[in-house]
Amino acid sequence: MTYERLFSPVQIGSRTAENRFVAQAMEGNDADEGGRVSSRAYERYMNLARGRWGVTVVEAISVVPEARARRFGLVMLPENLDSYKKLVDGYKKLFPEGILLFQVTHSGRNIGPFSSKTCLYPEGAPEGSRLLSTDDIFTIQKAFVSAARLAEEAGADGIDFKLCHGYFGAEMLRPGNVRDDRWGGSFENRTRFIREAVGEIISARKRREFILGSRISMFEAIRGGCGTAAADELIEDLTEMDKVVLFLREIGMDYINVSAGIPAITPEITRPTKPSRRLYLHHFRYAQRVKNLAPDKTVIGSAYSILGEQAAAYAEENIRKGYADCAGFGRQSFADPLYPAKLLSGAPVNYCIACSGCTRLMVGQVNDGCIIYNPYYKEVNKTFSAGGAFA
Ligand SMILES: Cc1cc2nc3c(=O)[nH]c(=O)nc-3n(C[C@H](O)[C@H](O)[C@H](O)COP(=O)(O)O)c2cc1C
Ligand code: SF4
Repeated sequence: MTYERLFSPVQIGSRTAENRFVAQAMEGNDADEGGRVSSRAYERYMNLARGRWGVTVVEAISVVPEARARRFGLVMLPENLDSYKKLVDGYKKLFPEGILLFQVTHSGRNIGPFSSKTCLYPEGAPEGSRLLSTDDIFTIQKAFVSAARLAEEAGADGIDFKLCHGYFGAEMLRPGNVRDDRWGGSFENRTRFIREAVGEIISARKRREFILGSRISMFEAIRGGCGTAAADELIEDLTEMDKVVLFLREIGMDYINVSAGIPAITPEITRPTKPSRRLYLHHFRYAQRVKNLAPDKTVIGSAYSILGEQAAAYAEENIRKGYADCAGFGRQSFADPLYPAKLLSGAPVNYCIACSGCTRLMVGQVNDGCIIYNPYYKEVNKTFSAGGAFA
């Protein structure tokens, strides 16, 4: 099969990606203590460049150190800038046509055990979470704007403003955010943080072609979560998420990356495994819905890895039918960073077997990657499974 559509160029903002394969953001939990790009992370992204993914999204980068979900998570700070510049330079040398985006985030309720978790409203928050004040949120907003500026300075092609998977951005958006200050309650208040931050990022950007996009969870599957109608509702009602999509379009986002679920609470929705394989259909449905609402924006679909050898054919079909513009691969990009290049050349591909080994390592707060095909993570997994210590 030739996958003509998948290998065709696609426009994102004023840029063009040479194909429609997206290497989704995947936390490797291997930065150094200060949140700088380590040599291992650097090599991972160089392999993605060799794989010629039209778009590569660099994993969650925290806007402040205390907002990390992982002990060795990346942090965007001025003192770390040289490591990000090096990453972009190396990537561009190998693959000048590739589009490299940085995902910027604050982990909110999912901050790791080394810092205190935060919440925007107390309902359902993990025990001990610190309720953020109005001023705290202003400070976080400034940090997002500053991280976007640094990403541009580092040479990234754009940012992914993370609004998915139960992190701070999603907590802000959802109906459950019943704060009574300017950051909660009405739809207008719950979207204010993003509207203001994106406005500032747009007016401060030096390169007009610097891409802005967001990843959303269409349905979080928690009471009052994104994709429900009200703070006390649990069942799916996408009326408000439709408004969110139109809002993102209106404020100038170039693309929308469509996901679902909260990995810490509803992991099978975000990343289906063998028993829950068919949940990929929800992802297809959500992407199709977003594409209908925002036909002029680039829409990236998620959760293709569970489809293994069939994934490319499904992606080709979705693109041909106009249900999505790009196909996002998370675990498959770990299993075989050379996937698009190999498909094109006919070389054998290492397909993700959805064993959840990488997730287990990530949740265990150790360096994570594919434990099936990558010798380093195979070893990490052995030590981790035996209860060994890690540096
Ligand atoms: C180990 C691991 C790390 C992840 N890190 C991120 C991340 O940093 N940002 C993000 O938006 N999603 C993250 N995800 C979710 C993936 O990007 C993707 O949405 C999910 O794995 C489903 O897609 P797949 O079926 O292609 O793997 C991560 C998933 C895994 C398994
Ligand atoms: S460890 Fe398992 S789930 Fe993760 S990428 Fe490898 S094969 Fe896929």
